[in-house]
Amino acid sequence: MRDSKHAIEIDQLTKYYGNQQALQNVTLRVRRGDFFAFLGPNGAGKTTTINVLTGLSNFQGGHAKIFGYDTRREYLFARRLVGLCAQEFNFDPFLKIRDLLVFQAGYFGILPPKAARRADELLKRFNLYDKRNVKHRALSGGMKKRLLLCRALIHDPEIIILDEPTAGCDLELKFQIWDYLKQLNDEGKTVFLTTHYMEEAEKLCKTIGIINHGQIVRIGEKKSILQDKSLQDVFMEVTGLE
Ligand SMILES: Nc1ncnc2c1ncn2[C@@H]1O[C@H](COP(=O)(O)OP(=O)(O)O)[C@@H](O)[C@H]1O
Ligand SMILES: [Mg+2]
Repeated sequence: MRDSKHAIEIDQLTKYYGNQQALQNVTLRVRRGDFFAFLGPNGAGKTTTINVLTGLSNFQGGHAKIFGYDTRREYLFARRLVGLCAQEFNFDPFLKIRDLLVFQAGYFGILPPKAARRADELLKRFNLYDKRNVKHRALSGGMKKRLLLCRALIHDPEIIILDEPTAGCDLELKFQIWDYLKQLNDEGKTVFLTTHYMEEAEKLCKTIGIINHGQIVRIGEKKSILQDKSLQDVFMEVTGLE
């Protein structure tokens, strides 16, 4: 891995869907080891930013790097360092969950014996080991969420990127996911999550970036962002709360 002090560097990123501009000159840095909340209302451009970072979406201007690797020119190096937790459950319905993790490891060149060991470790860590031989449709919602985390972590990535990880979760599951993410960050992994819950950003993160209408509104240390009275209107738009 390149010795970059930033896990994510995005510069002047501009993205259109047809005529519609989704991102406008987005510039953003995430320190190695940071716990970063990307906060913004629906439609702000959070998922689009993640898609660009992970090579799922193209873009028209600017550039993005993961630990110093350009996400276009050095895609394979950049992608290998990212564990991606998408918002929806996009699992192969035909695979038992342990096999699903072993397959995923294969995308990153991890051979089956090592992949199987790693899958078992993760299934144990996330309390899914008893379910290793069932297909994902036999899991509860909470178990599926934990499986998403296992799959994101199978290749031992340096940064975990999560798109609205607790949207639609009950309180117990939300707290459980928060605990897992804190543990991962304590172990030295960089965590980048999107959310439209103020509480999530407040409780978990070190740094907050706010995005609205495809533009960065503010980025800063959590405390300074939360104390900034000039951001009240944005917070209201983000959370829908007064
Ligand atoms: N595949 C797509 N095609 C066209 N427009 C899209 C597509 N994905 C997102 N958009 C638009 O881009 C903007 C940003 O969306 P998105 O990144 O999904 O926001 P967020 O994740 O913050 O809710 C929105 O206006 C959305 O409607
Ligand atoms: Mg989204």
